[in-house]
Amino acid sequence: MTELHRPAPLDLRRHDRGQFDSGETVLDEWLRHHAGPNRRRDTSATWVIADADGLVVAYASIAMTGIDRSAAPDALAKGAPDPVPALLLGRLAVDRRYTGIGVSTALAAHVLATAVELNEKAACRAVVVSALSVHARTWWERLGFSPFDPDEPDQLDLYLLTSHIHTTLQPPR
Ligand SMILES: CC(C)(COP(=O)(O)OP(=O)(O)OC[C@H]1O[C@@H](n2cnc3c(N)ncnc32)[C@H](O)[C@@H]1OP(=O)(O)O)[C@@H](O)C(=O)NCCC(=O)NCCS
Repeated sequence: MTELHRPAPLDLRRHDRGQFDSGETVLDEWLRHHAGPNRRRDTSATWVIADADGLVVAYASIAMTGIDRSAAPDALAKGAPDPVPALLLGRLAVDRRYTGIGVSTALAAHVLATAVELNEKAACRAVVVSALSVHARTWWERLGFSPFDPDEPDQLDLYLLTSHIHTTLQPPR
């Protein structure tokens, strides 16, 4: 297995997206066809972890969002304006050849650190994500994310308060 680079903004000249295979065609195609245009239009930013040859190994796309206060749990809504300022982690995927070794966790940690920075500069109360499946939801919960509605077993909309991110980012003891 080759050496991997730190998370970097997607650079269409440097990063090869053609062979990316997460097992989720929709996510693979989005990286190939939409990540670049979305960056040019300032509608989402894509961060990648690439290998030494520039092949994309994992990616995450993020954008600012506003959460409908009336649909938000108390922890998000209390004392907040409507909409509640937040960072949307729109997509995250890792190539199947690199699962289970912490690449996605590293990329998610990078996004969470970005939310902390954004919060200092412009206020960002939480990071929100829509899990792809119940299986993926468990993965996000491991990082500290909670469902918007804990009583709904199939709930895929999750949030993590920016003020709680430091717990996720703490190095393991
Ligand atoms: C879900 C996905 C992002 C996980 O990526 P990954 O790089 O394999 O995950 P990591 O290696 O960073 O994390 C591995 C850890 O998560 C745990 N884990 C993996 N899947 C899990 C799950 N469904 N529930 C709970 N924990 C899980 C592993 O046991 C491991 O724990 P450890 O570090 O304590 O040993 C990846 O499988 C993927 O891209 N799937 C397709 C797209 C997708 O579902 N994306 C999520 C978008 S919502």
